[in-house]
Amino acid sequence: MSKYTLHINGKAHTLDLAPDTPLLWALRDTLGLVGTKYGCGIGQCGACTVHVDGVPTRSCITPAAALSGKKITTIEGLDAHASHPLQQAWVELDVPQCGYCQAGQIMTAAALLKEHPQPDDQQIDDAMGGNLCRCATYIRIRAGIHRAAALASNKKGAK
Ligand code: FES
Ligand code: FES
Repeated sequence: MSKYTLHINGKAHTLDLAPDTPLLWALRDTLGLVGTKYGCGIGQCGACTVHVDGVPTRSCITPAAALSGKKITTIEGLDAHASHPLQQAWVELDVPQCGYCQAGQIMTAAALLKEHPQPDDQQIDDAMGGNLCRCATYIRIRAGIHRAAALASNKKGAK
């Protein structure tokens, strides 16, 4: 075990971890940040997606030890009041079914909206293609992203 300092959701945490501990275990088991989910554990489903320096990253296959000095954001840190336009749109359109995959979906979608504030269907499908949903909420996810883009642009216009 060694000590690693991780910057998560704006706070520094010094954790005692084995060098190969996946970030997902550090988040869920050590820090109690259980919004990020364990799906496949092999980088294939996207349920564990967080941002590392703004880039969507699979926390189940990313060793925490590799992330010193990087800025990690989880679903809990996406918006201080849990009212990111995506979170608002998700509630408004009732996007989730069981909900298990949705934190990962939202984190991937948040990175997409940073890069493309008004994405078209193709850009959404390209960005979201690696995030699986066993409840097949894909059509509502796409609608939710369009709605979030509209909410964000209305907010900007109102400033
Ligand atoms: S749990 Fe990480 S990609 Fe599936
Ligand atoms: S909402 Fe159930 S897995 Fe996506």
